[in-house]
Amino acid sequence: MSRKTKIAVLGSGRGSNFVSLANACNDGSLPAEIVMVISDVKDARILQLAQELRLPSKFIEPGKYRTKLDETAETDYVATLLNSGAEWVALAGFMRILKGDFLRAFEQKVINIHPSLLPAFPGLEAWKQAHEYGVRVSGCTVHLVDHGIDTGSILAQGVVPVIEGDTPESLHRRIQEEEHKLYPRTLARLFNGEISIGQLV
Ligand code: GAR
Repeated sequence: MSRKTKIAVLGSGRGSNFVSLANACNDGSLPAEIVMVISDVKDARILQLAQELRLPSKFIEPGKYRTKLDETAETDYVATLLNSGAEWVALAGFMRILKGDFLRAFEQKVINIHPSLLPAFPGLEAWKQAHEYGVRVSGCTVHLVDHGIDTGSILAQGVVPVIEGDTPESLHRRIQEEEHKLYPRTLARLFNGEISIGQLV
């Protein structure tokens, strides 16, 4: 059997992208193993889902800030991830900015999925921003995480047309359907060596 890449998934919410990654690991289309799931939200659905799937999971207190981890939390997150043996970290709806020591511990090994065609509409509720702007196509982006907000090198994008009568919610639903295909497929290409980080812009 070919080697499985060890990944950790971080999420703050519903966990639908996490489930798509777990399903792809189970059906063999993603040559990876989820070794840890962490949330910064105690009662997040992603943690319940991880328990149902019998995957190691943990709530880790994010600390005093609203948009990032404080120093103690950062140390806790990094230690838990290193202990789990994770080689890559996949963010799946993790709503805090990662910085300094975290990114140094997993240099060029942190991937995110964002619900817009970056560099358009970084930040929160990107589907709502896109809908309000009146774009005719939107989508999702899988990218490397760097020190900026949704600015890292792009690995893959999926296009979702905006249709007549769309609300921000209906657009987000279709973007999420695309995310659930694009994220596992892109990670599989990365772990199979079809995408090389060194060659990205
Ligand atoms: C996803 O749509 C993801 O792209 C977005 O949060 C949602 C999480 O859904 N992430 C961001 O906005 C990050 N800036 P999920 O918990 O069901 O996977």
